[in-house]
Amino acid sequence: MAARSRDVVAKPNPRNGRCRLISGNWKMNLNHLEAISLVQKLHYSLRDSDYQFTEISVHPPFTALRSIQLLLETDRIPISLGAQNCYFEGSGAYTGEVSASMLSKLGVKYVIVGHSERRDIFGESDEDVAMKANAVLGLQMTPIVCVGESLSQRERFETEGVIQSQVDAVVAAMSSELCEQLVFAYEPKWAIGSGVPAEPADAVVGANAVRSAIAKHHGEDVSSKVRIQYGGSVNSANAKEFLDQGEIDGLLVGGASLTAEAFTAVIQA
Ligand code: 13P
Repeated sequence: MAARSRDVVAKPNPRNGRCRLISGNWKMNLNHLEAISLVQKLHYSLRDSDYQFTEISVHPPFTALRSIQLLLETDRIPISLGAQNCYFEGSGAYTGEVSASMLSKLGVKYVIVGHSERRDIFGESDEDVAMKANAVLGLQMTPIVCVGESLSQRERFETEGVIQSQVDAVVAAMSSELCEQLVFAYEPKWAIGSGVPAEPADAVVGANAVRSAIAKHHGEDVSSKVRIQYGGSVNSANAKEFLDQGEIDGLLVGGASLTAEAFTAVIQA
């Protein structure tokens, strides 16, 4: 079926020229057999038209990447393969780590870097996140750079300052040519896994803070090309509200990407 070949490329949003990206971050869930089953079900429940204006990526744990790569290629499924993390060094004595080049060899297109769980549980700094983003770009893959404030920072009205310094750390020393390829995900920490999403207006404030921080270093033209997702308690009931905001170019979905039914409902919302 031609329309479902891997050659399907989602068309950009005519309002702003940016192509929507809806990504499923599975976190530490699903073994490789469960992962295969989920992608097969997702493929059967999505319609050809679902791929036309939205690129879809799935981000399984490392152990399922090879299985999902083979499934997507063999069945010519136009879903992009993503990873959840990588290390910034190319190779060496870094027990337990996975390099960007290893991911690139698996056909990975998007790599999430700086997820708040990586920052908070595993102590990743802004500098680590910047080095990871550069390592990913260096292998012709696209980083999805996560930024977002904690509840206490929000209560102290520090949201925009926090986002700006997280963005600064990644883009300040980067060429504009590389910067415009980035995807950012604004994920307020208090909205992740809480069942309490941000208000769409708050998500726009976050997205605008990302865009203005980029513009400060690289100008409006570059910042207008960068895609910005919203993430945090996204489900089929609220997905459309976020996507209706012109500044939001997609979604980074956790819990609601773990079943084909729920993720299809978000994509079709
Ligand atoms: P939830 O959608 O489960 O809130 O997770 C969001 C997230 O962290 C995606 O990266």
